Amino acid sequence: MKERSSPIVTTASPSPPGTPRSATPVGVGTAHAKTILIGEHAVVYGAPAIALPVHGLATRAELQPGPAWSLDCDLYRGSIDDAPPAVAPVLTAWRQAVRQVTAARPAGPQPTVRSAVTGRLSVSSQIPMQRGLGSSAAVAAAVVDAVAAASGVPLGLPERTELVQQAEMIAHGRASGIDTAAVLSDVPILFEQGAIAPVALGGRFVFVVADTGVTGSTATAVAGVRSLREAHPTLVNRLVGRLSELAETILGCLRQGDVSTLGTAMDEAHGALNELGVGSDELNQLVDAARRAGALGAKLTGGGLGGCIVALSRAEDVDRLRYELQRAGSHGTWTTTLEGPE
Ligand code: PMV
Repeated sequence: MKERSSPIVTTASPSPPGTPRSATPVGVGTAHAKTILIGEHAVVYGAPAIALPVHGLATRAELQPGPAWSLDCDLYRGSIDDAPPAVAPVLTAWRQAVRQVTAARPAGPQPTVRSAVTGRLSVSSQIPMQRGLGSSAAVAAAVVDAVAAASGVPLGLPERTELVQQAEMIAHGRASGIDTAAVLSDVPILFEQGAIAPVALGGRFVFVVADTGVTGSTATAVAGVRSLREAHPTLVNRLVGRLSELAETILGCLRQGDVSTLGTAMDEAHGALNELGVGSDELNQLVDAARRAGALGAKLTGGGLGGCIVALSRAEDVDRLRYELQRAGSHGTWTTTLEGPE
């Protein structure tokens, strides 16, 4: 399966100016962003969801050995002893990964493992935070992989998934696990009740992700849907049921290369998510702008209440679509082109 992504506008540089980079890091990990094509929120109630990789937006972690644990990231630079709660997910990923690689070492004293995975951890990320692009999961994944690389102890997908999900539980409370699965997969995935399967594409699909520039708290959005469900169970169950059907439709479209039905289903999903109360004026503005610019369909993506939209584009319309989204106030647009084997 092939993939091409290219950012034309990013809200953060890969290496923030003034951030010293280690000359010879002993461990490097990278991870990409993700976008949810269908099933956000409904997935919390057992519905299927589909997520896509956004390879053009990435996070990188470097681990350089040293006696003291120190962290260098956008949110904090200094000893981990004084680190603020905001970096707790990063520290969780680091500590748990260290524990895992130490335990995974063969029996006998292995002093080099611990000394290789403590030191200075530098994290730089292009992925804007709290926009539904999986930034916290990508950071955790990059850190876990940096620790594994530094230790020389390879970790399998189940271990990496478990470690990233532990950090996500700190970042978001009860998270379904879709972000974790999505940032660890290079191909589109179907996520259903914790089971993850790659989706084989039957055609070429060009998606544009556009950022409102407004942060949206996934935890607040998930709690809002839960409250709405308590107050109006029939309404929410109907919407979750419809989103579940749309996920099946979209899965079929991806497998068969049917962009037209896919676009229509995305439009309908956006309406259902608005009815669930996770939309916003800024999201609607970008969705409307995308449709006016010729998108085949568009919807909010991720937790909502801000964050991003994802639009389906014809290949020939993509530049105009990005231009129009920027004119409509988007803070950043990225293209993800995905296609199955020829
Ligand atoms: O992290 P976000 O904002 O892309 O949201 C993930 C999807 C939700 O269904 C809203 C939450 C979850 O844990 O499944």
